[in-house]
Amino acid sequence: MALDAHEFMQKMQSRINFTDKDKNLLQSEANWGREIAPKMAEHFYAYLNDDPEMNSILHAKEGRLHRLHETFIQWFHEMFTGMDNWGEAYADRRWRIGLVHVQVGILPQHVVPAMANVVHEVGSSIKRDGKDEVLRDALGRICMIDLAFIEQAYVEVTAAAVLQETGWTETLFRRLIASGAGSITH
Ligand code: HEM
Repeated sequence: MALDAHEFMQKMQSRINFTDKDKNLLQSEANWGREIAPKMAEHFYAYLNDDPEMNSILHAKEGRLHRLHETFIQWFHEMFTGMDNWGEAYADRRWRIGLVHVQVGILPQHVVPAMANVVHEVGSSIKRDGKDEVLRDALGRICMIDLAFIEQAYVEVTAAAVLQETGWTETLFRRLIASGAGSITH
């Protein structure tokens, strides 16, 4: 059940309709992305700090907030450069970010609103700096690809842990999930 991050990247680009036009536009605005990244990071961590649950995660380890500030800036800029044109290196990096969040115990209920916050802030910066609205759409699409990686990491890690611990087959596991979901909805 291990995820093929490269294949997943291709699939997400096609599902989300992240096109060459988006890529060219993002790369042409990479300097602007780097300029606004520190401000975006500040805003992002102020947002996380305001939430009691996320606040306690952020402060659970010495130096975490500082480290995160730096990694967020890098992450944000990479959405513009695409690293290797949104190829295998990009996919590997996004997969790793997903795994780190699973490991730290950050849930979809934290990550989805946080990404919505990023998309909203990007929109405000685009307006403020007089950038073309299409840039917001392109950024929105790459943010959703990155979000899909983090979300998928939960499913993959959970499934892999259960299969390894129990020795169940994937088919049995899927059947149990379906019947479990069925019993909750009835
Ligand atoms: C838009 C969603 C998010 C993005 C893009 C993002 C970005 C990142 C990145 C790039 C890393 C570094 C991964 C690495 O070490 O390779 C990271 C780690 C981490 N993130 Fe996030 N993050 C998001 C949501 C959240 C949320 C909601 C929390 C909740 C508190 C959070 C807390 C953390 C923590 C605790 C770490 C590990 C820090 C450490 O000790 O090194 N993140 N994140």
